[in-house]
Amino acid sequence: MSSSPVSEVFDAYHRWYYDTKVWETVEFLGVPSLKSVADMWNYQEILAALKPALVVEFGTRFGGAALYFSVIGRALNPALRVISVDISHVDVYPLARTDPGIHLMTCSSTDPGIAANILAYRKAMPGPAFFILDSDHRKAHVLAELELLRGVTRSGDYLVVEDGNINGNPVLPGWGEGPFEAVVAYREKYPQDYRHDQAREEKFGFTFAPGGFLVRQ
Ligand SMILES: C[S@@+](CC[C@H](N)C(=O)[O-])C[C@H]1O[C@@H](n2cnc3c(N)ncnc32)[C@H](O)[C@@H]1O
Repeated sequence: MSSSPVSEVFDAYHRWYYDTKVWETVEFLGVPSLKSVADMWNYQEILAALKPALVVEFGTRFGGAALYFSVIGRALNPALRVISVDISHVDVYPLARTDPGIHLMTCSSTDPGIAANILAYRKAMPGPAFFILDSDHRKAHVLAELELLRGVTRSGDYLVVEDGNINGNPVLPGWGEGPFEAVVAYREKYPQDYRHDQAREEKFGFTFAPGGFLVRQ
């Protein structure tokens, strides 16, 4: 974002929200969801417009975001399913664990079997899909996730790459290359794959996913 008095206000609010760890206390129906609430509202609007058959989340943690996507998504399309992938699901809250719309998949999001698994779900549930990457935030891992999804996402699908805000965009300067840099590297390699949905990204002034609101072309 350009440096202007308005963007400075957004950055200051962003730093306050992040550095005071408000995001670690966000809950949906009592289940922690480690997000910006403005992003969550934006995702709700994206789901309402997209009407997906499938949501794929990389990084489950407590299950708050998976539950959010399932409750909102099934209100729009009762057949919707959420696949949530994590290397461990021991911390998932009961409300998310027992939600009928959520399928937990315990493995790394870069496991070679993941693509085939998601494609099998897509075959059973035709329609658009919403993907959200929120697992290991290191650049190499996110880039591997994006490469893996290359053969899985289809024209019109929505992909959010979360946590591009770290490494100084504007929080956690010096963290090291992360999701933001992964998206830049991916776009250099495959410039035609995704359109950057900048208007959506900027709607609420700040986001944990700068550069990360993408529509498959
Ligand atoms: C930030 S948390 C996810 C938060 C969740 N999406 C939410 O908004 O409530 C990151 C999660 O990624 C998981 N994770 C780390 N490395 C992973 C990998 N290689 N594959 C899948 N998940 C991974 C961690 O176990 C952790 O639960």
